[in-house]
Amino acid sequence: MAPPPPNEDNSISSNDEHRPISTIVIIIAMQTEALPLVNAFQLTEDTNPLLFPKGTPWVRYHGSYKALNVNIIWPGKDAVLGVDSVGTVSASLVTYAAIQALKPDLIINTGTAGGFKAKGAAIGDVYVASEVAFHDRRIPIPVFDLYGVGLRKGFSTPNLVKELDFKVGKLSTGDSLDMTPQDEASILANDAVIKDMEGAAVAYVSHLLNVPTMFVKAVTDIVDGDKPTSEEFLQNLSAVTIALGKAVTQVVDYISGKSLSDL
Ligand code: ADE
Repeated sequence: MAPPPPNEDNSISSNDEHRPISTIVIIIAMQTEALPLVNAFQLTEDTNPLLFPKGTPWVRYHGSYKALNVNIIWPGKDAVLGVDSVGTVSASLVTYAAIQALKPDLIINTGTAGGFKAKGAAIGDVYVASEVAFHDRRIPIPVFDLYGVGLRKGFSTPNLVKELDFKVGKLSTGDSLDMTPQDEASILANDAVIKDMEGAAVAYVSHLLNVPTMFVKAVTDIVDGDKPTSEEFLQNLSAVTIALGKAVTQVVDYISGKSLSDL
């Protein structure tokens, strides 16, 4: 028998689409964002020294929850500075390592985001991203410009967003918490309602390795408001993180027993 044709459009095969989802990987950049979920799903830390390369601070929490093999991957603390390894570099590395090690059926990249009130975002809103793109990779040469933007779709979950009543909007990613005027122009061009520091990097890797990925982000700060971003972010982080934990628990509860095509 001839081998099946390759997945030229990078879509999942129809077999995979219709079988129950079994393994999920949740990628979260900050420990504060991860811990409510580790508790909600009663996960334990993986102590296998062979899971990730020696010396990396990457952490896997795992366990069985409602018939799902649930994994939370946190890039850990910077070895020198002791702060969470936020941003696109760590996010892409842990996404790659987690896919290689765990072969997930679905990735959920979750965390906090800045929101644009002009586009309808408010503090505490939870968004599922329809598309993700970068806003700080400016390469003004034809076609390289598009490569820099790196636009990718989030895995489409129309039934889930309807049932759980989440907002849907575009996400723009960059390696800074603040926003320069050039970033702002690119975010507007991306038509984004929220901005984060990991989403498009996770999407780049999961698209390369053909793993469906959804993005669930909760708004901690209003980017086009009057408060300084870092102040507003820190002020709202713990409350919004609790709301995010509830939202992601609802997502995982919804996914349990379903196939990708049910979402
Ligand atoms: N995470 C939370 N708020 C953010 C912002 N304003 N920009 C990028 N990432 C964020």
